[in-house]
Amino acid sequence: MILLRRAHFREGLDTDALYGRTGPLVLEIGFGDGRYLVHLAKTRPDWNLLGVEVSLASVSRAFRRIRREAVHTVRIHHGNARFLVRDVVGTGVLHRVYVNFPDPWPRKKHLANRLLRNEFFGLLSDRLEPGGQVLLTTDHAEYFDFACEQAASTDLFDAAEGEPPDGVLDTKYAEKWRAERRSIRHVSWTVRRSLAPPAPTKLTYPMQHALMTGDLSGVGGFSKQVRRFEGGTAIVIEAYRSLDGDGLLFAVVVEEPDLHQELLVEAWPREGGVYVGLQAFGDPLGTRGTREAVQAVVDWLETQGLELRQSWI
Ligand SMILES: C[S@@+](CC[C@H](N)C(=O)[O-])C[C@H]1O[C@@H](n2cnc3c(N)ncnc32)[C@H](O)[C@@H]1O
Repeated sequence: MILLRRAHFREGLDTDALYGRTGPLVLEIGFGDGRYLVHLAKTRPDWNLLGVEVSLASVSRAFRRIRREAVHTVRIHHGNARFLVRDVVGTGVLHRVYVNFPDPWPRKKHLANRLLRNEFFGLLSDRLEPGGQVLLTTDHAEYFDFACEQAASTDLFDAAEGEPPDGVLDTKYAEKWRAERRSIRHVSWTVRRSLAPPAPTKLTYPMQHALMTGDLSGVGGFSKQVRRFEGGTAIVIEAYRSLDGDGLLFAVVVEEPDLHQELLVEAWPREGGVYVGLQAFGDPLGTRGTREAVQAVVDWLETQGLELRQSWI
């Protein structure tokens, strides 16, 4: 298994099960085409390597590379590093975190998008093992200074500037910047003490469902349902009817901090009622937001004359 889907995280990150062995867990954030992960796998076969990347195109490229190179210690996830570190990775489990050529977000109004900010350093200080390290390499002098200031302001790390580690200068972006003769800077931060992190988002099982009574055949006239809750929004965009019965499918988008999910809620006639719940299709991770989505569908069906009999939402 190379690709970690959200379903793998329902009970946090069980590294023994995911890698089939124990070993130092090393994370690369924003791995691009996966070259550096493959380099690490070849040079550090004892490390369990985890990559997270928001770009689906990059995840596809990296997936093909990892398979082609037949390295067996790399797992990658398509998603946001902030979500993975905050809600999936446990306290004290990361040996190292590599960030190579992060998006610099140079415009002032976009500074909040920069990953290496003091709150993220605070979180990393908890997720790293004692003596664990964050390693940054970048061509962007202003982001480099910004990240150093942010890390220093937390007073949680010891910083050491130096030469980039082996292999970092062979990544796609490094090659590009070297061809342009830009100077490349590197710093490693070693955790000195850790900060109690913010509470992670509670991840639950996708068992959220309800039983209703009534008839789906007369239901119609759907319009978009927007449900706001503390920390997010669930939008039921569209409803579709099954061709071989009265079943309905609702397309939903759920936005929560650093977590975007597109999923389906089903309303299906079952013996003695109508089942309303989250469909496994689309790999949903049960969260507060998916619960709100199921509830939004139940509420809408009530406006169509169905009655709630029992709820496990
Ligand atoms: C400039 S590229 C560098 C790619 C690669 N590290 C290299 O050196 O070739 C930055 C990468 O970080 C990814 N990225 C940006 N923000 C991210 C986040 N919050 N979580 C995960 N990946 C992110 C981008 O999609 C992009 O692929």
